[in-house]
Formats: sequence, structure tokens, C-alpha cells
Amino acid sequence: MTSPAPSSRPPRAELHVHLEGTLEPDLAFELAARNGVELPYPDPESLRAAYDFADLPAFLDLYTANMAVLRTEADFADLTRAYLVRAARAGVRHAEISFDPQAHLVRDVPLEAVVGGITGVLERAEADHGISTLLIAAFHRDKPVADALDVLERLLAMDAPVVGIGLDNAEIGYPPGLFADLYARAETAGLRRTAHAGEEGPAANVRDALDLLHAERIDHGIAVVQDPALVARVAAGQVPFTVCPVSNVRLRAVPSLAEHPLPDMIAAGMLVSVNSDDPPYFGAYVDDVDDAVTAAFDLSRDQRAALAAASFEGSFLPRDRVAAYL
Ligand code: ADE
Ligand code: ZN
Repeated sequence: MTSPAPSSRPPRAELHVHLEGTLEPDLAFELAARNGVELPYPDPESLRAAYDFADLPAFLDLYTANMAVLRTEADFADLTRAYLVRAARAGVRHAEISFDPQAHLVRDVPLEAVVGGITGVLERAEADHGISTLLIAAFHRDKPVADALDVLERLLAMDAPVVGIGLDNAEIGYPPGLFADLYARAETAGLRRTAHAGEEGPAANVRDALDLLHAERIDHGIAVVQDPALVARVAAGQVPFTVCPVSNVRLRAVPSLAEHPLPDMIAAGMLVSVNSDDPPYFGAYVDDVDDAVTAAFDLSRDQRAALAAASFEGSFLPRDRVAAYL
């Protein structure tokens, strides 16, 4: 997809993007060659052709397998830089980027290489790309909470510049309550808290993320529309929801963009932003997602501006920094 120059778009933030999910097939092959890793595809086009997913677990299988090419600090730096270059073209002025530390530790990639590679580039993101950034450590809900707690303690001990934590991977069968101890530790440590909930799972997962994890923000959360009382609650509290409509269609959480609950969430007065999730896997960076949503719901210029403002309002930036962007 082609994208117009950033100046034609309102400035926006991106709050829901997985760094590992920004790995383009071309870069995957470049890193594979650099690291002597064999990918089970002959070329980048064949890999991209495999990006057709039956559901979230099917996507996670390929997403995880492709991480085999990420081995060194330089790899994580290159991955981070590539996302920032593309995000700047999309008009992104502030990005809150998640990464999956456990996915790399199980492959014996040192945490220092992961964090060092990412943060070395993020430190220069404002100067080099015109994008302020915050980093979120996301934990795998299909792994034991003890494992997540161990990694969180390591991040705290090394004083990793993370603003907060998230919870991702397969949702069905792994309710939020399993991670209450992790979120309590993060809260004590002064970290911000977001969690994937209500992506494939029920509205109860959104409620439990709020009540049991003290999540301040919800990633996806589209199942909330199944529970009108919960919709009223999150609208009244202006809980930010980072919605990824193209991802939801590509992972078949909703049948089509036209049937996506985004307009209902907005109409209910919820604080909703539009995000990409894993752009190359779903064929859409955040400007492409904006365009798709604008076309599907015939959004007016004012409605697009309101969504762009909500992307900053839902951020973990201090309020004076948010105000400066609006
Ligand atoms: N990790 C990367 N993308 C994800 C998604 N959409 N849901 C859960 N975990 C993820
Ligand atoms: Zn996500």
C-alpha cells in the first residue's frame, strides 16, 4: 500500500504496536543471512504469502518462528529503526512500543542485547525521526506468572527504561487473574499497566484486567461491547482502548471491517485509538489502518481528528506532554 506524505494527515500517536511484529520479510531475510539462520521459505515474497491466518494462535506461531532471525543487539537496533522510519512516514509523532522479552530469553538471546539494541535507537528517535517513544515490556499470558515475575525483576534490576508492562499472546484459556501478582509488582515499582483483553476472549477479561490487574489501558478490548454496563463504566472513566481493526479482521476476531465494533465504541463515548498491532503481518501500517477505517465508516475530517487526539490522550505521556501534542 502507498502512503501520502505525513503532512496530509493529522499528527497522531501509536499506542499498540509489537516491535517483533514490525519485522518485514525483507529484513527477516537480511538478518537470517547475517546470523546464519535458515528460514523455511525461499524468499521474502513467499514468506509474505504465508501471512494468511485462521486465528490469533495461527498468527502467533509464525510471528514466534520468525523471531529466530533476531539474535544480536544490532538486529534489535535495525528492527527498531525500520519501524521508526515507516512510522514517521505515517505521521506518527509519539509511539509506545511493546517488546516480548520472554520470546528472546527462551532462545538464549541475552536480555541486555534486546534492551540495549532497542533503547539505543529509541534514545535518538526524537532527534532522528521526530518521534517521542516509550517502551513497554509485554509478558506472555500462556507462560507461568513466575517466569514473568523473574523477567520483570531482571528488567528492574538493570534499570531498563520501560514505562510499563503489557500482557499478550494467546488469550483463550489464560484469564487476566493469573497475572495479578505480576501487575501488583509492576504497580509497586511505579510502572504503567496495559493488557491485551477482549481480543479473542470475552468481555469478562476486560473487566478482570481492570479489577484484578489494575490495568490503566486495554489493548484491543473489542469484546467490551458485549457488556453494556462495562461499556458505560469504561466510557465514564475514559479508560483508553487501543483498538486494531485491521488486525481483528486479519485474525478473524471480526468477519469484516464493516462489522467491527469501533463505531459503537466511539458512539458510546469511549476513549478509543486506532493502531496497527503487527503491521507487515496484517498488510497495514497505522496510516493504512486510518485509511481503511475512514473508508469503512465514512469518517469525517472531525472524526479523524478526534481519533488522532485520542491517540495522544490514551498515552502514558505526562499530561503536559499530551497537551503539547493536541
Ligand atoms: N502479540 C503480537 N500481536 C498480538 C496480538 N494481536 N494479540 C496477542 N498477542 C500478540
Ligand atoms: Zn497486540
